[in-house]
Amino acid sequence: MPQVIAQGQTIECSPKTNLRSCLLRNGIELYNGGAKVINCRGIGTCGTCAVYIEGEVNQPNWKDKARRSLPPHSPTRELRLACQTQVLGDLKVTKYDGFWGQGSQVVWTPKG
Ligand code: FES
Repeated sequence: MPQVIAQGQTIECSPKTNLRSCLLRNGIELYNGGAKVINCRGIGTCGTCAVYIEGEVNQPNWKDKARRSLPPHSPTRELRLACQTQVLGDLKVTKYDGFWGQGSQVVWTPKG
């Protein structure tokens, strides 16, 4: 089973599990500030579930690429939308600041 390491937790999940669901089910603070309440619930339109991922995941789908091509995201930044990401192997996840998780300051790392 793949292991997802995020915010100091190591979570086991089945291959192809949706990363957003995996993180939220285990109490990881995927959203920053008001985005905890105001988000698209995983349909890939709000862009607030953006995270930095190290490890094996699916190729970005069109929703992920489209939303991250729009400000305040940048298509050149190596973030992914957790709601559009499948866990394929062991992962380490980092969350950055800003409403959309688009900032440059780390909010939490894989270690906590
Ligand atoms: S939850 Fe809105 S884009 Fe992922």
